[in-house]
Amino acid sequence: MSNKKDRNEVIKQLSDKVGDFTVSLHYDRRLYKQDIKGSIVHASMLCNQKIITLPDRDSILTGLLEIESEIETGIFTWRPELEDIHMNIESRLHEKIGSVAGKLHTARSRNDQVSLDMRMYVKDSINIIIEQLTAFQRVLLNLASQYDDVIIPGYTHLQKAQPVLFAHHLLAYFEMITRDKTRFKEACQRTDVLPLGSGALAGLPYDLDRSYVARELGFSQISENSMDAVSDRDFVIDYLSAASICMMHISRLSEELILWTTEEFSLIKLPAEYTTGSSIMPQKRNPDFAEISRGKTGRVYGNLISMLTILKGLPMTYNRDLQEDKEGFFDSHDTLTSVLEVFVGMLPGIYVNSEKARQSAEGGMVLATDLADYLVIKGVPFREAHGIISELSDFASINHKTFSEISLKEYRGFSMLFDEDVYEVTVESSISSRNTVGGTSFKMVQQAIKTGYRKLEG
Ligand code: ARG
Repeated sequence: MSNKKDRNEVIKQLSDKVGDFTVSLHYDRRLYKQDIKGSIVHASMLCNQKIITLPDRDSILTGLLEIESEIETGIFTWRPELEDIHMNIESRLHEKIGSVAGKLHTARSRNDQVSLDMRMYVKDSINIIIEQLTAFQRVLLNLASQYDDVIIPGYTHLQKAQPVLFAHHLLAYFEMITRDKTRFKEACQRTDVLPLGSGALAGLPYDLDRSYVARELGFSQISENSMDAVSDRDFVIDYLSAASICMMHISRLSEELILWTTEEFSLIKLPAEYTTGSSIMPQKRNPDFAEISRGKTGRVYGNLISMLTILKGLPMTYNRDLQEDKEGFFDSHDTLTSVLEVFVGMLPGIYVNSEKARQSAEGGMVLATDLADYLVIKGVPFREAHGIISELSDFASINHKTFSEISLKEYRGFSMLFDEDVYEVTVESSISSRNTVGGTSFKMVQQAIKTGYRKLEG
């Protein structure tokens, strides 16, 4: 560098860049509501504990509420050079009420403050998601009862296996979502711990009333170790893990919807507004919404892996790495809530082609197990019956016949125990016979739908 002026210029440019590197404002401003609420309760507690005066508390509260409305009306001036949401709000408070603003940060560090904000946001997010999951379940139940007599082939290995009710298939997803809700609720319990009052890492030299703060902010527990409280983000991992599993379930359903809309399956039609045309092939109605939902599962998994990786090497306690918890979390919240919105909107408009479902269920050899059971009832050991029906199936397949097209004489070639009543083995009789708890019989499925609605009410 030839002269001092040039050198200063380079240093300035560098520090601008480095400044940008540490800025989190563009994403953590989403925490403004939580940050302000936390500050209001903190200031109130400081006043209750006679750490700050009543007039000081009042001007802090008034200032904070004004800032909140400035943010909400869009007139707040965001200053990235102040790095994050916490410093933006605090600095604006200074502009508004002068040096009293400095008292707000008494007995608090950004380390316990940011953990508080995140915990509050995660809890809010979980409540939103649980409500959406319930709406999703309701839509599944509605669809199940709308098509409660539609029979489809059930698959294993993506090979037709046994007939099942379409409703039974949908109710499988109802169960998955029930478990997803449980996971989110458990994640919420572990998130529901107040970190504020931990300070930077070691606790605080003031007589704080943490119970008051917990109560006012709706926390049911208070953190028991200040070092853990400021460095822990496993509540984010819990959340991302629950979100990943939930997305995996939605992705499986997406995959099925996509398969079912193919000409080969022709089992369902998606509502037109949830499909898109092709720019080149005029006949196409692509299931893009389901596909994008399936695709978005990847980013939620990615966010989980990121967070696990961010935390794995961190020494106690707060490290700036932790700032990286936010984007993945917000992204997962946005992804999951938007996907759920799509599904709750899309599923009610699905048209199910019962006729095609039936043809498909009657094709193939989905009644093979029922025929084996038919022989079992007549005294044949199951393994032997299995062998007989296996040969019968080969015969049917070679001769391009369905079971109902095989003559009694032909049946008797395989076992003399076959009688006229073999033709009473139908997809309906197969469904009706599977009346064990959790089975696909009409009766069980009706009951499951009823229980499902009851669970949602409860
Ligand atoms: N933006 C920071 C974060 O998200 C806030 C906490 C900063 N604390 C600190 N000691 N620099 O983690």
